[in-house]
Amino acid sequence: MSMKFDLRSFINPVFLETGTFHGGGVRKALDAGFEEILTLEVYSPLVEENTTRYKKEIETGKVKIIHGDSGFVLKSVIKEINSNITFWLDAHIQSQNGGGEGSERCPIVAELEQILATRVGKKDIILIDDMRLIENRNVGWSVNLNEMYRLIWEINPSYILKRIDGHIPYDVLCCVPSDYIL
Ligand SMILES: C[S@@+](CC[C@H](N)C(=O)[O-])C[C@H]1O[C@@H](n2cnc3c(N)ncnc32)[C@H](O)[C@@H]1O
Repeated sequence: MSMKFDLRSFINPVFLETGTFHGGGVRKALDAGFEEILTLEVYSPLVEENTTRYKKEIETGKVKIIHGDSGFVLKSVIKEINSNITFWLDAHIQSQNGGGEGSERCPIVAELEQILATRVGKKDIILIDDMRLIENRNVGWSVNLNEMYRLIWEINPSYILKRIDGHIPYDVLCCVPSDYIL
């Protein structure tokens, strides 16, 4: 949820976020200077809220808000995009401060499967938020960590993996192509 790092270190033509919430990620992506910003949200009141919040940017085509469960709809959104994408994978059950839930508490594995199905050979950057919760067996998200890392390496075997600060230190997993200068 919290991007305490500088998103300008991860610039690509397209920014794609899963889990829009109150639009903080979109604001950071706009400020960082991404050309095109796509954000997926499952909970319709938040889609409406952000459609109002980003009315001007939606009208100019800079921001697109997609209503749907990222565990299913991500593939259809990214398969036609030719330019490199910076993914901000941040969809998960949000019970506080008004948020929703899709078919899974945390759809990260389903999201990576769809990236693998559509994006092999591209030089995308993948940023995965909330590693403190993804790795904590007591939280109940039931993420298969072996499968998560297997998918990351299959999407791009040359990825450099690095942890940076998010909500807490080292909470964001960055998967960056080896020739990308950080
Ligand atoms: C932590 S918040 C996202 C914060 C936002 N990315 C930011 O940087 O400010 C999680 C969001 O994911 C949404 N969500 C939960 N499951 C989802 C799913 N399967 N697909 C899309 N959005 C989902 C919740 O409704 C909530 O708005």
